[in-house]
Amino acid sequence: MILEPAPAKLNLALHVRRRRADGYHDIETLFAFVTDGDELRVATGVARFAISGPFALALAGEGSNLVLKAERAFAKEFGIDAAHRIELVKRLPIASGIGGGSADAAATLRALARLHGVAIDDPRLFALADTLGSDVPACLLGHTAIGLGRGEQLRPVAGPGHLPVLLVNPGVPVSTADVFRRWDGVDRGPIGDDPLAGRNDLEAPAREIAPVIGDVLDWLRAQPGASFVRMSGSGATCFALFDSVEARAAAARAMHRGWWHLETMLA
Ligand code: C5P
Repeated sequence: MILEPAPAKLNLALHVRRRRADGYHDIETLFAFVTDGDELRVATGVARFAISGPFALALAGEGSNLVLKAERAFAKEFGIDAAHRIELVKRLPIASGIGGGSADAAATLRALARLHGVAIDDPRLFALADTLGSDVPACLLGHTAIGLGRGEQLRPVAGPGHLPVLLVNPGVPVSTADVFRRWDGVDRGPIGDDPLAGRNDLEAPAREIAPVIGDVLDWLRAQPGASFVRMSGSGATCFALFDSVEARAAAARAMHRGWWHLETMLA
């Protein structure tokens, strides 16, 4: 049995530069990862896929789950006949801008690579990841990186450090495609040398769909010790970096609205 973590990804900045002819958008983003998220358990055996954890129900019935897509793509690419028993512990909210499904797909590729003796940096894994979603290559890399193109062209960089983070999601699923569709088409400029000084250009369109995101951002900014606050991806999850674990814990204790939250660290 292989245990593979599927940590949440954050976009510390996300600049949308242009709409492309293929329906995607060219972005410039700083991906980062936290130390908590979903978890995958994979073994060879009778084919079986089970989902447990607090967000299992939200995924149930979705036959096109990215984990199974990743398994099929891996088996085809590497000529694997063996069936797999796969268990997904779903701890991250669905459609929430922190890459849950992408992290799960990347963890599936990593777990199967370990199980079948494929090198983790095999370029074929990254090519498969690319076909599974724009954020899957970043999740496969699992390291702070600048992402260009759809987000799949990656350059590892140093992150802001092992800082305490609080993730907050108001419980409204937001479709990434819907948010990109509402982007106003205005190029507000490149990500620059200091991405933290940048923006998330998807915040405005996401707030049109889920105005409560504004309340989450305001709440996070009001927490003592919150040094940096932003929405991740296409939302609705927002995050704050904190000066100390104590300040993060105090903010988590002050959370009174029933919003989902996760106390974690930047990886
Ligand atoms: O790549 P992925 O399947 O995760 O993207 C979901 C949707 O988000 C795409 O179908 C597209 O509408 C939108 N998207 C985009 N530009 C990106 C990434 C995603 O327009 N860079």
